[in-house]
Amino acid sequence: MLKNTTNSYGWIAIVIHWLSALMVIGLFALGYWMLTLGYYDSWYRLGPWWHKSFGITLLALTVIRLLWKFFNATPKPLGTHFDQVGARVGHALIYALLLVTMVSGYLISTADGRGISVFDWFEIPALITSIPQQEDIAGAVHWYTALALVILAAGHALAALKHHFVNKDSTLTRMLVAKRNQSNND
Ligand code: HEM
Ligand code: HEM
Repeated sequence: MLKNTTNSYGWIAIVIHWLSALMVIGLFALGYWMLTLGYYDSWYRLGPWWHKSFGITLLALTVIRLLWKFFNATPKPLGTHFDQVGARVGHALIYALLLVTMVSGYLISTADGRGISVFDWFEIPALITSIPQQEDIAGAVHWYTALALVILAAGHALAALKHHFVNKDSTLTRMLVAKRNQSNND
């Protein structure tokens, strides 16, 4: 029940999905709120510290998620041919936006040559610092991709709810609980 089968999600994919969803929403809200803070605000330094620490955690989780996906079955999307193509394209876009948002966040943070402290536990070094106007360009990319990501994720959540309440299929429930599968037991 840890692994996926061709028609059900296992616990590993389910737990990573919901942890990622929470972190994406939290990071967006925190990032947006950070913009409103002034220099003398006590959260002026603390906000980015949490944002970057969780951002790097999400990046690591997403790499593990993609490796897991690569070595595992992906359940076939349910519904019409249109639904299935939409789900595949939509999920691929979400993964791409996640990666570009996180890499651009890394490039903003390390543009001045300083590494990123992750929960004051260890530091990620600055590897690329030579892109012209790196902080500004990465900052613009970060904002637009983060915005596109949350809009797409909201559409994605609506699609899941439509499957549940209108089509009445198992799309949503199979992302909530792992079920033992008849055709593929593991
Ligand atoms: C920021 C929030 C979210 C992100 C980034 C996200 C991302 C993803 C991704 C990448 C997949 C594809 C998994 C795979 O590789 O097979 C997926 C699947 C899924 N997500 Fe989300 N998700 C988010 C929020 C939500 C919410 C709020 C819901 C429910 C209301 C939801 C319901 C589902 C369901 C049901 C699937 C399985 C789809 C299927 O079986 O075809 N997600 N999600
Ligand atoms: C999916 C994950 C992420 C989301 C949704 C997200 C979202 C946001 C948002 C909405 C902002 C405010 C708007 C802006 O100035 O761009 C922001 C700012 C920022 N983010 Fe992220 N972020 C994510 C991951 C990361 C990561 C991994 C890092 C670095 C390790 C990071 C570093 C930053 C920095 C340094 C800022 C301040 C930028 C500035 O003041 O111009 N973010 N983020």
